Amino acid sequence: MQVNGKNYRTVWMKGQSVFMIEQRLLPHTFKVVELKSLDSVCDAISTMVVRGAGAIGASGAFGLALGVLNDDSLDLSEFKKNILIYYKKLVETRPTANDLKHGLDFVMARITDCNDILKIKNLAYIAACEYADTGSENCRKIGEHGAKLIKDGYKILTHCNAGWLAFVDFGSALSPVYTASRSGKKVFVYVDETRPRLQGANLTSFELSGENIPHSIIADNAAGFFMQKGSVNMVITGADRIAVNGDAANKIGTYEKAVLAFENGIPFYIAAPSSTIDLECESGKFIPIEKRDSSEVTQVYGRLKDGSFGSVLVAPSGSNAENPAFDVTPARYITGIITEKGVIKANRKSILENFGK
Ligand code: MRU
Repeated sequence: MQVNGKNYRTVWMKGQSVFMIEQRLLPHTFKVVELKSLDSVCDAISTMVVRGAGAIGASGAFGLALGVLNDDSLDLSEFKKNILIYYKKLVETRPTANDLKHGLDFVMARITDCNDILKIKNLAYIAACEYADTGSENCRKIGEHGAKLIKDGYKILTHCNAGWLAFVDFGSALSPVYTASRSGKKVFVYVDETRPRLQGANLTSFELSGENIPHSIIADNAAGFFMQKGSVNMVITGADRIAVNGDAANKIGTYEKAVLAFENGIPFYIAAPSSTIDLECESGKFIPIEKRDSSEVTQVYGRLKDGSFGSVLVAPSGSNAENPAFDVTPARYITGIITEKGVIKANRKSILENFGK
């Protein structure tokens, strides 16, 4: 996607460095960070320098390739043991997004049977780059399939950020919006601010502004108001993990939007590439839900008046807060899942027909 007239991906690798857009500074400051070690990639994922399922998946793949490239063991079995340690470190950085394990497994599958250290290094690098390219292409296809659902003049509500910043490029929930808008359809987006970390206000609005797509940021609890008034034609959100029965985990608050959409007769779509589908997960109740620090709830982070970044406390300092980062929308509320293969039903039959092994 274009930023200041230049084409960017969210994360990429060149030589022995991983580069990523520092998302915690957006929309105020656009900065690319260069990471030279596996540990710094792990840190970037867990502290959300990079976030969003697909972007985490590609970061994991690049992080693993970086660990492999930087490893100077001469002994093959020691080298292979180290790779397993790198895998474990990366996979534990964030628990909910299926894409992280998917990206790591993709790289592992390419190197496991090779017994030559130099070749393994080369294979890991090539696999990580291929993983990122495929992820980007799948999101482009999601845009093509999803745009067919969007009629001229539609008002779409989205939650969190499932745009290009949440993937390598294009995004999932926003990709159909971009495709529809570029094809000349008039679209308008209601952007849930998405407390506690405000990915909607910070990132989705940044992306939509970059594409000149009209939008309004709304408080999370205003979605029902606009739906009830008939102002919302459809809801599209992303997903971090989809179970085989169609239940989908996404940013906390998504479940509420799905129930509200159902109550108001509004179609509710999940847009996600196959890398988000966990064929080993039978239903939403088995999806691991990340619990993040309570300070994300009791404080609000942003740019301060003097231009620096910081947090302000919005609760009594002694109050307890709970901060589950995701919730699960039961399949029955999901009108369809927009994937790279087309729009499928949120049920076991449709998921296995399209994506079963
Ligand atoms: O905690 P985050 O920002 O990594 O959460 C992921 C998300 O951005 C959302 O849940 C998104 O809607 C799906 S990820 C494509």
